[in-house]
Amino acid sequence: MDLHLTDKIAFVAGASTGLGYATARALAAEGCRVAVCSRDEARITDAAASIAEETRQPAEMVLPLVCDVTDEAAVARAIETTAEQFGALHILVTNAGGPPAGTATSFGPDDWQAALELNLLSTIALCRHATPHLKAAAADEGLGRIIMIASAAAKEPIPRLALSNTARAGVLGYMKSLADDLGPEGITVNAVLPGYTRTERLNDLADSTRADTGQTREEVFAAWAENNALKRIGTPTEFAATVAFLASNPAGYITGTALPIDGGRSKHLL
Ligand SMILES: NC(=O)c1ccc[n+]([C@@H]2O[C@H](COP(=O)([O-])OP(=O)(O)OC[C@H]3O[C@@H](n4cnc5c(N)ncnc54)[C@H](OP(=O)(O)O)[C@@H]3O)[C@@H](O)[C@H]2O)c1
Repeated sequence: MDLHLTDKIAFVAGASTGLGYATARALAAEGCRVAVCSRDEARITDAAASIAEETRQPAEMVLPLVCDVTDEAAVARAIETTAEQFGALHILVTNAGGPPAGTATSFGPDDWQAALELNLLSTIALCRHATPHLKAAAADEGLGRIIMIASAAAKEPIPRLALSNTARAGVLGYMKSLADDLGPEGITVNAVLPGYTRTERLNDLADSTRADTGQTREEVFAAWAENNALKRIGTPTEFAATVAFLASNPAGYITGTALPIDGGRSKHLL
């Protein structure tokens, strides 16, 4: 299937590693020019170079930007730089790291504030600043897409991930509201909900579980895999392929959806 993404412009947040990196690579492989951001200059510069190399694209097709997505002014600058340097913005992928593990009663006000800033308010800031550019791209070229990377926890809370469970549910409420607002402009707005997928974040979560249970990392992974239908942990590449499809022209009638990419872990019907 031709995704019609050649020469389209994408911004992928939290892209120096993991799901963001894989998403930026998938979009670049489809011919997009991609701006990628993270907090660390060396990491994001290396990531941009690797994406260009892995996808055999010229280096200038992948633009590294230093941006902490919890800093609204930095978000505004990063989005403006992307639109200025590439001339437009068709696709926004919101993303950041995940908050620490713990139960609902184990955190204080600063932890809740930080988690909501990292996973909910950053999503809103990125969308607010990207929206004028996405409206122009949808009007001029018929493509405007927002994809929010959230978590399977948004639909089915995960034990000991109270901060994530709470912030991700907020993302889905915002996603549904924004889909209604931007639908008449021809912009689709969706969320993707990763289940257990092999990244640095998953290693960190496994290590925090090991500390409680005394299992090896691989035993923790095996127990998580046992809980889904496919009995394995997912890969960033298969996650990213779904995001690239949602970003594409053929996905134009999908909006307001929260799509689990979790190997069948979620057991809810709706
Ligand atoms: N992997 C899974 O199994 C899984 C499952 C469910 C949900 N999720 C969620 O999906 C998201 C991505 O997961 P992942 O596994 O790819 O995480 P990861 O391996 O920890 O990668 C997170 C990425 O975000 C960047 N980042 C972190 N904080 C940032 C900030 N404030 N501003 C800008 N960039 C920031 C990091 O780069 P720098 O350090 O260079 O800034 C890194 O590139 C997370 O929210 C995670 O909780 C993951």
